[in-house]
Amino acid sequence: MGKTAIAINAAGALIARGRDVLFVDLDPQGNATENLGLREAYDSEPPSLFDILSDSEQRDRIGELVREHEEMSVTRRSST
Ligand SMILES: Nc1ncnc2c1ncn2[C@@H]1O[C@H](COP(=O)(O)OP(=O)(O)OP(=O)(O)O)[C@@H](O)[C@H]1O
Ligand SMILES: [Mg+2]
Repeated sequence: MGKTAIAINAAGALIARGRDVLFVDLDPQGNATENLGLREAYDSEPPSLFDILSDSEQRDRIGELVREHEEMSVTRRSST
């Protein structure tokens, strides 16, 4: 219990120390994406991070998955 909460708080602690953070949510549950207030990113259309990582022809599209957040950037794994 608490893995996702720890990941979010670790990211927050790094931000508090002045680091730029890219939070990569690889869990199909998408709890971290949702808990960071980005539910619409979780629900958005493919390609998902899995699609892009598993298809070399799509790999240069990875930047499309990054969402800006008021504290950090987030790459989410969508539900599809
Ligand atoms: N330190 C804590 N104190 C109280 N509640 C907590 C704490 N850490 C997590 N929780 C709560 O426990 C629940 C599960 O936490 P979290 O989602 O971080 O667990 P998880 O290990 O990622 O779970 P899963 O295996 O389902 O991904 C959430 O409702 C969260 O708010
Ligand atoms: Mg979790």
